[in-house]
Amino acid sequence: MGFIHVTVAALCCVVVVFVGFPLSSNAELDPSFYKNTCPNVSSIVREVVRNVSKSDPRIFTSLIRLHFHDCFVLGCDASILLNNTDTPTKIESEQQDSPNSNLRGFDVVNQIKTAVENACPGIVSCADILTLAAEVSSVLAGGPNWEVPLGRRDGLTANRTLANQNLPSGLFNLTQLKSAFAAQGLNTIDLVALSGAHTIGKAHCSSINSRLFNFSNNDKPDPTLDPSYLQTLRNTCPNNGPETNLANFDPTTPDTFDNNYYTNLQDKKGLLQSDQALFSTSDADTISIVNTFASNQDAFYESYKASMIKMGNIGVLMGKNGEIRKQCNFINKKLVDQLDLASVVPKKSLEEGIVSSF
Ligand code: HEM
Ligand SMILES: *[C@@H]1O[C@H](CO)[C@@H](O)[C@H](O)[C@H]1NC(C)=O
Ligand SMILES: *[C@@H]1O[C@H](CO)[C@@H](O)[C@H](O)[C@H]1NC(C)=O
Ligand SMILES: *[C@@H]1O[C@H](CO)[C@@H](O)[C@H](O)[C@H]1NC(C)=O
Ligand SMILES: *[C@@H]1O[C@H](CO)[C@@H](O)[C@H](O)[C@H]1NC(C)=O
Ligand SMILES: *[C@@H]1O[C@H](CO)[C@@H](O)[C@H](O)[C@H]1NC(C)=O
Ligand SMILES: *[C@@H]1O[C@H](CO)[C@@H](O)[C@H](O)[C@H]1NC(C)=O
Repeated sequence: MGFIHVTVAALCCVVVVFVGFPLSSNAELDPSFYKNTCPNVSSIVREVVRNVSKSDPRIFTSLIRLHFHDCFVLGCDASILLNNTDTPTKIESEQQDSPNSNLRGFDVVNQIKTAVENACPGIVSCADILTLAAEVSSVLAGGPNWEVPLGRRDGLTANRTLANQNLPSGLFNLTQLKSAFAAQGLNTIDLVALSGAHTIGKAHCSSINSRLFNFSNNDKPDPTLDPSYLQTLRNTCPNNGPETNLANFDPTTPDTFDNNYYTNLQDKKGLLQSDQALFSTSDADTISIVNTFASNQDAFYESYKASMIKMGNIGVLMGKNGEIRKQCNFINKKLVDQLDLASVVPKKSLEEGIVSSF
């Protein structure tokens, strides 16, 4: 009787605990999350990024792209930052996947993390650093600013297969783009607004070569390319030339975060097929959105901010989920793992191991 009583009581506890977790993980991200624990985190991120940009002006675009590639795979959990490792668990880094092969800025994220750890050790997640870096970069490139919801925690795993599945390709048509975004809970306005990040930054010739010379295998270029822009791109990316040459996304104001991305699309000067598809797909519902953003930069900025916040909410880990990584490229080594190892390996063989290692 007494035993059953105790068991029932224990079950009650279990129920309370399990109800407690979903509630806390339903809590929302909050711009003042670090108000008491790391009040200066935004300016620390800003100063490192500003500093790096003096020698690497492209860092703004690279950091914005990193946040996007993080959020589309397992949510905004900094899984993109994890390196290949075998211990404490096997991690197949997402960085080696083809959509991620041209990402840059990993070293700068580590630089930011070091500066943040110096000010507030063990407090700020790498996922929040990626999100803050994206906002700071948008501002420093002349774009909009917004209050960044914070409180993400870092994931304990990565998934290269999912990176390949979830990240859209520059060769995607509008149907494929919409479904890649829908899979992340993002709608058509989000798709058009977030694509506006391509108002800055560069792409490798390998990302556009197929449009320039033998599109649709008919020895002709992509018909949705403006002829003079085609010539410009062919100069940057000659036939069978080096695939590592870089073309600006925005031929008019390449380094400024403005709405020229959308006027370019109206002028058939979108760099990727996936860019031009937003305007040149017949009867598409995206055309009017492009027209709105092209004629009204404030409308673009407002949508961009809202969509960036929405993207930053994808699959976030909060409360007791995940962890705060010490080093962004690796999950933390848990003392528990070492204890587990010690308890499964017989003492004798441990001693032998020690002896043989001498
Ligand atoms: C809509 C689907 C998207 C596709 C298909 C796409 C594809 C690409 C490709 C192919 C590149 C060039 C990679 C290279 O050749 O080096 C690129 C660069 C870039 N993407 Fe996207 N992207 C998309 C959406 C986004 C979103 C949502 C963001 C951020 C909000 C973003 C931000 C960037 C930035 C800033 C760059 C330039 C990076 C640099 O200069 O280092 N993209 N994207
Ligand atoms: C906040 O960080 C910035 C940049 O690193 C620094 O200049 C400033 O002194 C810091 N403020 C405080 C209160 O720590
Ligand atoms: C800024 O960059 C210089 C040169 O790379 C470096 O010595 C300095 O520590 C950096 N300062 C900050 C705040 O990151
Ligand atoms: C993580 O892997 C990258 C290559 O993908 C390498 O350049 C970098 O040095 C590694 N970082 C650490 C801390 O080992
Ligand atoms: C990665 O995600 C795929 C698709 O959801 C799943 O089948 C696979 O088991 C995952 N791999 C790892 C290593 O978690
Ligand atoms: C988009 O691409 C997919 C996959 O290649 C194809 O099945 C589909 O028909 C294309 N849609 C349009 C509208 O071209
Ligand atoms: C274009 O592609 C087609 C089909 O793959 C091929 O037969 C043709 O030789 C290509 N043209 C050039 C100039 O490479």
